[in-house]
Amino acid sequence: MYLRSLDYLASPTAKLVFQLTSDIPKMVFKLSVLVTLSCLTGFALLALPVMGVPSLSSDVADNTLADNVNDVNLGTILADATDESLNLAPKDLLQEAPPINSRAPQATFIGCTIQQQRIITTAVEESRSLIIPAHQFAAVPGNFNSRRFRTWFGAFNITREITVLHNLERMAAANFNTWVHTCGICTSTTQGADFDRTRYGQLSYCPFFWNEGPISRINVLVSRLVQFDSIAGVGNFVTGAQASRDLAISNPNRAIDNAYSYVYFVRNNPPL
Ligand SMILES: *[C@@H]1O[C@H](CO)[C@@H](O)[C@H](O)[C@H]1NC(C)=O
Repeated sequence: MYLRSLDYLASPTAKLVFQLTSDIPKMVFKLSVLVTLSCLTGFALLALPVMGVPSLSSDVADNTLADNVNDVNLGTILADATDESLNLAPKDLLQEAPPINSRAPQATFIGCTIQQQRIITTAVEESRSLIIPAHQFAAVPGNFNSRRFRTWFGAFNITREITVLHNLERMAAANFNTWVHTCGICTSTTQGADFDRTRYGQLSYCPFFWNEGPISRINVLVSRLVQFDSIAGVGNFVTGAQASRDLAISNPNRAIDNAYSYVYFVRNNPPL
């Protein structure tokens, strides 16, 4: 009623005040709609960069990233986002690729023909493609008591299995790019490659290596790898699958120290 009484004053100001105050319920409604809409817009703005993130972080080399990161608003929103990849500073995202000449060194060949180099390279790749899954298999604790372990390394014994696992770990991590392959010097007909266990990665291939098939070449490489001191430094007590199986039963402590026991474990053929 006080508001109405203002109307009687008939002044323009009073009319305006009356007009405004009588509209209060409507205005409150309008205001709440406005606030709701603002909130929704705010959320939408926050959500936008989060949805756009995958393309940003995966296109690191793309120049458009620089433009996006330099945008202050987007930068602020990015900094608030929870995704870890968003916490990268622009300088991290824009790192230059390493120069081309810093590539890993390649293996060295001495006295080997191109064809011999190809054969060696293939044998190394094939060996690695067996060693890595063999290590992965051994790294599953439940596999310590598997038939594969027991066949080549004897009755279950956690100390022995962990020793084997560590040896396989170093075999799987071995760097073959530093190896020095020598051809045409060794004349032995009984061994595949001459080597010194203290000189990691230096093999001198004998006629046996060239005369036998791909499987024998894998045997040679894996058995030498595990004998290098810097890998596992194991011995070479028996060769051949049957002799290695027998050793696992008669002397498992020696089996885990025998190069060819690792060869057969790694090759796992036929699979156990
Ligand atoms: C388990 O293996 C370790 C290391 O090879 C050996 O010293 C120990 O005697 C073995 N234990 C049994 C019960 O065979």
